[in-house]
Amino acid sequence: MSLQAAHDQSATPPAGPSGSSKALYGGKSTRRITVHDIAAATERGEKWPMLTAYDAMTASVFDEAGIPVMLVGDSMGNCHLGYETTVPVTMDQMAMLSAAVVRGTERALIVADLPFGSYQEGPVQALRNATRLVKEAGVGAVKLEGGERSHEQIRLLVESGIPVMGHIGLTPQSVHAMGYRVQGRSEESAQQLLRDAKSVQDAGAFAVVLELVPAELAAEVTRTLHIPTIGIGAGPATTAQVLVYTDMVGLTGGKVPRFTKQYANLRKVLGDAAKEFADEVVGGTFPQPEHTFH
Ligand code: KIV
Repeated sequence: MSLQAAHDQSATPPAGPSGSSKALYGGKSTRRITVHDIAAATERGEKWPMLTAYDAMTASVFDEAGIPVMLVGDSMGNCHLGYETTVPVTMDQMAMLSAAVVRGTERALIVADLPFGSYQEGPVQALRNATRLVKEAGVGAVKLEGGERSHEQIRLLVESGIPVMGHIGLTPQSVHAMGYRVQGRSEESAQQLLRDAKSVQDAGAFAVVLELVPAELAAEVTRTLHIPTIGIGAGPATTAQVLVYTDMVGLTGGKVPRFTKQYANLRKVLGDAAKEFADEVVGGTFPQPEHTFH
């Protein structure tokens, strides 16, 4: 079935719990969600889900499920492209996969990550690369890592008309300096996280990801900011929650982080399907007459 045909079959997202016809999840609108809709939902006190996506087919499934915001995360490095970390991801890879996710969706706001090395030089480099993702891939917003250190980049992008999602706490592009550990546990780093959150908001970001932060601190940040917070390993008090989709559907091999929840076991489903196909080929029971042309 084509992506368009699949969309036509289920144009309206499923009814959600909020009851509002404008709700980000479960609302009636089928037009593309914007950052203004995110701000309005935050005013209404809605919680909302975000998932990563790296290809058109998967993105179309999540769009039909009513997921209002999708992140073409640089987690594509580990989860899609076979790298150890997010660090090697390039602008070309980000532009190509972001364009695929945009093509696969009709309703979700698509946010693309600025990969490592594409904005650290300064605001002008950030603007050049963010502009490419908006013009070439058609995304509605970009995300970049860092609080105070990325303030000027965020400010120039927002002033130039590009909505920005911030990302503070654990910032995986800094893995070589930071490691993968919970941030904000000491008084000093908690204060830094609060400064980072305010800095991202003051620069004009429309939302901020809080990654691997103690739940109490994430709750304080959420109370302090007027923009929505999006938690991953940050407890239940954030405005929104994001998961890396390959973790969420059980595709990721090996150990998955404790903060993730596996809602399906696609690794087993795909493996079982592959084995059944192989067994039938080897046993001569595939293809059958109904799969055969004369
Ligand atoms: O790249 C990514 O998937 C992310 C999420 C973990 C928020 O940045």
